[in-house]
Amino acid sequence: MQAYWHICKCLAYMKIIIISDLHVGDAAVSNEFAVGSSDNAVKNQLLDELRQLAKQENIRADYVVVAGDITNSATKEEFELASVRLKEIATIVGVEPSKVFFVPGNHDGNWAEEEISMRAMENINLTIERKYNNLRFNNFFKECLEQALSGSYYYEPYFAIWSDDNLNVIGVNSSVFDHYDNKPHHGVIRRQDLASLDTKLQELRIGDSNKINLLVVHHHPTQQPDLPFETADHSILQNAALLMEIASKHRINFIVHGHKHIPRLAQYSDEYQHPINILCAGSFSARLDDRWFQGVPNTIHQIEIDRICDVNSTPFGKVVSWSHNTGHGWTKNESINGIPHKEFFGNRMSPVELKKQLRESIECFFETQTHVRWSELSNHCADIIYTSRKLLDKTINDLSKEIGFSIFKTPGQDEMFILLKGN
Ligand SMILES: [Fe+2]
Repeated sequence: MQAYWHICKCLAYMKIIIISDLHVGDAAVSNEFAVGSSDNAVKNQLLDELRQLAKQENIRADYVVVAGDITNSATKEEFELASVRLKEIATIVGVEPSKVFFVPGNHDGNWAEEEISMRAMENINLTIERKYNNLRFNNFFKECLEQALSGSYYYEPYFAIWSDDNLNVIGVNSSVFDHYDNKPHHGVIRRQDLASLDTKLQELRIGDSNKINLLVVHHHPTQQPDLPFETADHSILQNAALLMEIASKHRINFIVHGHKHIPRLAQYSDEYQHPINILCAGSFSARLDDRWFQGVPNTIHQIEIDRICDVNSTPFGKVVSWSHNTGHGWTKNESINGIPHKEFFGNRMSPVELKKQLRESIECFFETQTHVRWSELSNHCADIIYTSRKLLDKTINDLSKEIGFSIFKTPGQDEMFILLKGN
């Protein structure tokens, strides 16, 4: 495998489709995901259009990961429809059902059943079983969980781990203790369950493996901007800081979550100096009301891992995202409130070194030509293509003043920008 990574520097060797917050049932935006009729189901070709996209873009992945809120109210019928649709999505992107992994969201526990059980003062373990009955006994999700190396979402310590030759998936149920009457609703992972997770990851030597480590949890483990709103977001995961510390310590490469419905890629690093790429997957098929979401589209993402860094053993690659717009289907246009079509990750060069390399390259090009394309620059210094957009934009802007060039942005295209000599 190591030799293969070196040979295939330009081809992704692993592709993971990420979707979240399908809300199969009354909150789905497409009638393919609604059980019966629903006022929110204003679209009808989400899956057909996904088929077209997969054909056009030649999307073929190795895994599908679903970050929760698979259904809207956790009924038996919703889980039945969800399992059919998830298998269809997997087929569209060329993934076998045994490579589909999931975590429950707050909408996947049946709060009506939970309320009956809690009011009757039943044992908490029985309450949790009842809350998840419709998910537990659905064949597709049951078989998925039975393939896990260890764990369960319905019994302590409420996490499951899948592992094959290339990937470890750690699914953590953050919704078990988000009870029907919690105010405000938020994700919860108890400290004793986090301690068990820490012990299990150590026992499996997850951090020492040469596999990609992906942790999926429904609630967001870091604060998300709720622009344009400024009010505090109380739905963040309780004990999030402890989960992040465990993730850093055991060298998790990706944390994938849902819940927020607004997609975003961020990077996290703490005292362990291990970078974690955090992908908020937004929503694949929920009706996103503009009163709250300000034009956020439905999205689907693909994590593409191109290679592993020889020095740091961390992945280089990109997250490719497509947005659904009524009348246009799934497109790679940049959304006005969400995530760019392509976001890169993996360059661990310091900002000082990045600026130095970019300065040398730009000055070298300007000796013989009047403009420099992003494609020329990224070919010239191999790893800079894997720099986050924010850092890249800041560095190019700083250099434009210091060297003296103008920046012409070419949004939505792979070229990104062209630099023109002189101000
Ligand atoms: Fe949701």
